[in-house]
Amino acid sequence: MKTLLFLFLCLVFTTNASSIAKTATVSHGFCWTVYIYNVMIDAVTVHVKSADYDLGDHTLEFNDNENWSFCVNFWKTIVFYADFKCKGTKSVSFNVWDEFLGDDYGSGSTRSAERILVWLVKDDGFYVGKNLPPFPDGMTKLYDWSH
Ligand SMILES: *[C@@H]1O[C@H](CO)[C@@H](O)[C@H](O)[C@H]1NC(C)=O
Repeated sequence: MKTLLFLFLCLVFTTNASSIAKTATVSHGFCWTVYIYNVMIDAVTVHVKSADYDLGDHTLEFNDNENWSFCVNFWKTIVFYADFKCKGTKSVSFNVWDEFLGDDYGSGSTRSAERILVWLVKDDGFYVGKNLPPFPDGMTKLYDWSH
């Protein structure tokens, strides 16, 4: 019984590592790449974080994107959130990846190795979908800028 418990704990601890693909990869579970595209003429500053990672400030000019990859761990919930700022007057913060967003708006099948979720930053708000450029019409608007 003790051996079983020990093996179980080993399994928990060895699988309990979620990581950004740039630093390490975990084969367990699905892997995602999230893209944030600025399609406004004005530059937008984006700061993405999770409990474990801080991707820092990035300023996106028109048509630039920020993207990052990570693998979802069965044992641990991952949430990435972002602060967006534009021209010192507009700002907003919200989750840019969590399991619900991934399931509801992302791409991927159970057979694909990698899944994607794409955000568009526009003058009138934030749209989510599963296509890289060319962006289709009818992406879902989820958030507004706050002034
Ligand atoms: C993802 O971001 C990198 C910079 O970190 C950039 O070089 C690359 O072009 C981006 N990928 C796409 C598909 O735009």
